[in-house]
Amino acid sequence: MEFVNKKYCIQEIPVEQLALDYGSPLYVYDGEKIKHQYQRLKEAFREVDVHIKYACKALSNINILKLLKAEGAELDCVSIEEVELGLYAGFTPTQILFTPNCVSFEEIKNAVALGVKINIDNISILEQFGHEYGNKIPCCIRINPHIMAGGNKNISTGHIDSKFGISIYQLRHVVRVAKTNNIHINGLHMHTGSDIYDAEVFLQGAELLFDAAKDFKDLEFLDFGSGFKVAYKEDDITTDIEDLGRKISKRFNEFCEEYGRPLQLWFEPGKFIVSESGYLLVSASVIKQTTATVFVGVNSGQNHLIRPMFYDAYHTIVNVSNPAGTTRVYTVVGYICETDTLGWDRKLNEVREGDVLAIKNAGAYGYSMSSNYNSRLRPAEVLIENGVARLIRKRETFDDIIRNMVE
Ligand SMILES: Cc1ncc(COP(=O)(O)O)c(C=O)c1O
Repeated sequence: MEFVNKKYCIQEIPVEQLALDYGSPLYVYDGEKIKHQYQRLKEAFREVDVHIKYACKALSNINILKLLKAEGAELDCVSIEEVELGLYAGFTPTQILFTPNCVSFEEIKNAVALGVKINIDNISILEQFGHEYGNKIPCCIRINPHIMAGGNKNISTGHIDSKFGISIYQLRHVVRVAKTNNIHINGLHMHTGSDIYDAEVFLQGAELLFDAAKDFKDLEFLDFGSGFKVAYKEDDITTDIEDLGRKISKRFNEFCEEYGRPLQLWFEPGKFIVSESGYLLVSASVIKQTTATVFVGVNSGQNHLIRPMFYDAYHTIVNVSNPAGTTRVYTVVGYICETDTLGWDRKLNEVREGDVLAIKNAGAYGYSMSSNYNSRLRPAEVLIENGVARLIRKRETFDDIIRNMVE
């Protein structure tokens, strides 16, 4: 979003106009930003055979999937429904990695039947996989490296108390199970957490994976997961992707020499690709002065963007209707029937009832984590590509609320 000719614009389209044209609340995505982020990542790792599997849990609108497919991305899916969506969007089965957690073996079998690549994160499922398929279907192993990293405990996945992956200390057991069941392990994977800016954490994880890889002779790829941090506030520290690309690529190429043949390097970013592309546009329904603060009550809430309440996440908020207004301090709250704060103590240009506010960084884990809590309708979604805005999901109606209720 840029400030051009006294207006906030996305690809030269005034943001306030989007809210007028499509109504609010509204999710808007800047398609050019998504392409830019994908290409930046590709470029940073140009020295290796990098495969970028977009973690579609972040934002799964089929138009976003198609856009990324056209750029050359592949897909990371965590549920059979995401796999089906990816195939529906046109990804080939071999472009899709299925990385479920704590699912039944039935779901794994369904994914195998669809032909996608399988990532296994516990020994019980690995044994069942071996009994069912022997060496006919290869699989990848998700390792828990026991590294504590990530912006919030709910998005830290690689520590010792986490439910994800097979402990790095259980690898001897994995090797035994694989050997006795003749399982073809073609990849090793780890994902430490989200919002990691320190290149050293990634390098530390990479060394653990390199070390583990020595026990597996038939590998085709190593998957380093994701966790790249983007800016939520101005001057936020972020992952220096270009620096990380240089460091990891150099070390990866050295490792491939040690391993004896070239391997593919996989990543599965969500937030890095789509977070900054997205805005949630909301309207100020009421300005409410209390003894302690001035609340802006908006026509949205944690049912549409849960990150502030769930992860204590900071999302910058901008009043796009009154950019020249005097700044005042507000707390921006939603309409949900419990504490529902989108931003505490924010300096905003004076907010008047009816003004449109843009909530930034709403591309990742915004719409995809939204719900109908309080029987509220989910917003519409708009994608802007090549300077043209188009509706990519209709606003819900009351019919969507009652559709599956049986009277
Ligand atoms: C296994 C796995 N891969 C990739 C991701 C995407 O992470 P991010 O959105 O931080 O890039 C996640 C996020 O939860 C994950 O659990």
